[in-house]
Amino acid sequence: MDDLVLLTAAREAKSRAYAPYSRFPVGAAVLTKKGAVYTGCNIENASLGLTVCAERAAVFNAVCAGERDLEALAVSADTPGHCRPCGACRQVLAEFSDDIRVIMGNMNMEYEVKTIKDLLPDSFKI
Ligand code: THU
Repeated sequence: MDDLVLLTAAREAKSRAYAPYSRFPVGAAVLTKKGAVYTGCNIENASLGLTVCAERAAVFNAVCAGERDLEALAVSADTPGHCRPCGACRQVLAEFSDDIRVIMGNMNMEYEVKTIKDLLPDSFKI
């Protein structure tokens, strides 16, 4: 699947973000090795620490559907710079593969691609 198609799915998921506190909507989309796409958005809470990032919501959607073979994840926000996954989301992605391609987009559909290995070398593993 083209990176731009996955990034478009992430942008679309962003429209469903629940972000009344930060007013910073984020969207993400995971592509599985089978070619399925699972999306996620950030979901905030009045108890701010319970907020879930868009990337983790997308990964958890995929895993809940029985999919663990993840190929790529696209993430996007309304920023001029590329939206990069936070450290916690990098660790969650690394759980499933260090080779996941992460497509990091901005408000203009410009993007850069790195692997999880690049974004989180030496991730925690048991
Ligand atoms: N957020 C994400 O959804 N993904 C990231 O990679 C970084 C931050 C969300 C969490 C919070 O709802 C808002 O962006 C501001 O931090």
